[in-house]
Amino acid sequence: MSLVDLVDLQVLGDDRGQLVVLEAQKNVPFDIKRVYFLIGTQPGVSRGFHAHRELQQAAICVSGQCRMLMNDGFKIEEVILNSSSKAIFIDKMIWHEMHDFSADCILLVLASDFYDEQDYIRDYSKFIGLLKYA
Ligand code: TYD
Repeated sequence: MSLVDLVDLQVLGDDRGQLVVLEAQKNVPFDIKRVYFLIGTQPGVSRGFHAHRELQQAAICVSGQCRMLMNDGFKIEEVILNSSSKAIFIDKMIWHEMHDFSADCILLVLASDFYDEQDYIRDYSKFIGLLKYA
């Protein structure tokens, strides 16, 4: 099964412009408790480098582009996020990294729970170790 799970978002709109809707348990496969966005990432800076124990997330690049790397401990897949009408699903226990942000990149992220640092696995060898006991 592919790690890169991209969902096409319906683009509604008319001659005034476009509108894209994200709805819990409809085109987002969880209840949304938190929304945040990454903006102004400096050239050459990469982000992420963690997995979550339980959190599920969906990310939409609403402006510009970046490269998402996903790793389940067995395989690595990468995808360029450059469309405001595609959401990428980031499941729990997926090591993810974001690279090559364009200056105008706005990455919108929907999360299944509130921020909890205890849910983060920021050490790669710990991530691999936890998979062995999953
Ligand atoms: P972090 O998750 O490390 O960012 P990234 O994975 O994009 O590199 O978060 C950066 C900082 O922001 C860190 O100190 C934790 C804090 N933070 C919150 O307080 N609340 C949140 O919802 C998020 C996502 C991060």
